[in-house]
Amino acid sequence: MEACGDERTQQWLTGMPSPYGLDDAKGFIASRPDAAASGEAVAWAVTDAVTDELLGNVSIFGLNNRIDNSIGEIGYWMHPDARGRKVMSSAVELVIGHAFRPVKDGGLGRRRLVLRCADVNTASAHVAEANGFTQVADERLADPRRDGTYNNLLTYDLLATEHAAS
Ligand SMILES: CC(C)(COP(=O)(O)OP(=O)(O)OC[C@H]1O[C@@H](n2cnc3c(N)ncnc32)[C@H](O)[C@@H]1OP(=O)(O)O)[C@@H](O)C(=O)NCCC(=O)NCCS
Repeated sequence: MEACGDERTQQWLTGMPSPYGLDDAKGFIASRPDAAASGEAVAWAVTDAVTDELLGNVSIFGLNNRIDNSIGEIGYWMHPDARGRKVMSSAVELVIGHAFRPVKDGGLGRRRLVLRCADVNTASAHVAEANGFTQVADERLADPRRDGTYNNLLTYDLLATEHAAS
């Protein structure tokens, strides 16, 4: 609730309930098993390796695309106290490995991953770039803010072929 109610999380993740309450957090957690069971999305809690305290969340979603089920989109947030320590860059690295791993080896067998963020969300863009994603689109005024303004929306992608070669 603290992480999702945080000003910057609310600023960049416009789809989050606002204000964000404990029931919203409980509802999100309760909905994740169904999302995974239906094959739509997988979400991970990012926790402190020593204390197991929740630091953030990273998800891969859009896995049930009817036309192309070899893709996935990565999304994330960190608790404000845990930001700036490259935790999310490291978490995304692990998610990428799992996403590209063949299904027969326990992975998601993806071929292409995408990541989207507002062009002014530099921290999020850094996470994409640190993980080898390439910016492939800059959609003009495509990312709505809660105050009625819009930002340009960057799309980054990463292919399994280039990831394997890196
Ligand atoms: C985006 C977010 C998850 C990044 O998490 P994080 O653990 O702080 O990220 P990391 O420390 O792994 O890496 C962040 C990168 O951005 C940089 N960075 C961190 N805070 C920054 C800021 N406020 N402005 C600019 N750059 C910033 C870091 O230096 C790092 O860059 P580097 O690898 O070149 O040094 C976190 O800022 C967040 O929760 N933001 C609010 C929610 C959000 O924007 N979600 C994504 C929506 S698209």
